[in-house]
Amino acid sequence: LENGLGRTPPMGWNSWNHFGCNVDENLIKETADALVKFGFADAGYKYLNVDDCWEGERDENGYLTSDPITFPNGMKMLADYAHSKRLLFGIYSDAGYYTCAKRVGSLGYEKKDAEIFASWGIDYLKYDNCNNDGSLEKQRYTKMRDALIATGRPIFFSICEWGNSKPYLWGAEVGNSWRTTGDIRVAWDSILSILRRQQAITQYSRPGGWNDPDMLQVGNGQFSLDEQKSHFSLWAALKAPLLLGFDIRNPPNDTLKIVLNPEIIALNQDPLGKSVNIAQRSRFFDIWTGELSDGHVALLFNRAEIAMTITLDLKYHCKLEGEIFIRDLWERKDLGYFTKSFTAKVPKHGIKVLKIKGGTPVNINESVFLQHIEIY
Ligand code: DGJ
Repeated sequence: LENGLGRTPPMGWNSWNHFGCNVDENLIKETADALVKFGFADAGYKYLNVDDCWEGERDENGYLTSDPITFPNGMKMLADYAHSKRLLFGIYSDAGYYTCAKRVGSLGYEKKDAEIFASWGIDYLKYDNCNNDGSLEKQRYTKMRDALIATGRPIFFSICEWGNSKPYLWGAEVGNSWRTTGDIRVAWDSILSILRRQQAITQYSRPGGWNDPDMLQVGNGQFSLDEQKSHFSLWAALKAPLLLGFDIRNPPNDTLKIVLNPEIIALNQDPLGKSVNIAQRSRFFDIWTGELSDGHVALLFNRAEIAMTITLDLKYHCKLEGEIFIRDLWERKDLGYFTKSFTAKVPKHGIKVLKIKGGTPVNINESVFLQHIEIY
């Protein structure tokens, strides 16, 4: 959506993955404090987003109110609080009669809801798809887009219809991001299955309109460090919104190190705004490559249950030849000059993220290129 927002993928925090419906205004204020205190905001995580369950009933004029028990001081108070800390504030609603948690939805009230959100100072709206009337997604989401635009306030519009109506085909006209898939779970197989579904649609992500494979689970559950690094790197390189989903009020050091890695964040926020594509998918590993504003990136991702030795082929994976210079973005070390190929040992469920400079583009016939990729 050309509303000036989302020129790079949005970064911030959302309440859902960790807290679900257990949200209240104290949690949101403490999270605002934590965004600043631990350096998240300085690293780019500016959006403080409340998901489902903040909603109360409509007042006698049809305007939405917040839950009187958990958000007694209203959403404007929270937006003001966020803005006083130079953060941005996001809220949630639903293109149906009720939200997924059976709170009041926005269907039929788009204009009133957009108006009240704008009057509260909302900067981001996540718009869900539960309990709707069965009409077309594009139609229902367009209605809210128009209502948001009519307020005159720039509001990042996040389409959350779970990928069913091919939102990558119409999302860029209607919103700033669109979910590609159903809800991410706190499980490794969930991350793998969402990733797999990105392969065919990476070309649709662009400045102003991003594929959204759902919010991050880094810091939640029992993921190994390598798994968390892989999840974070892949989402970053796919140009996904980077919305933290763990309790950041007491962040463990190793989680901080992952989500605050400036070089992985820079990969996500690269001004060119192009997603990586699959370059090889074997039974045991993936290679994803892509262009950056100042070079290329290659991800060697080991899906296997044991360490694997993975070789990046400059020509067939990156469409480059000649001499290249490689930097390892997790080791944060220059690895030096290479020609033709680069080989690394990658731990179980781990990843190498390589920034490549130099090399000359080589034209490979697309069908030869595709033959080279084993797709499993
Ligand atoms: C479904 C969405 O996909 C989730 O991200 C979350 O917003 C829940 N609904 C809230 O009910």
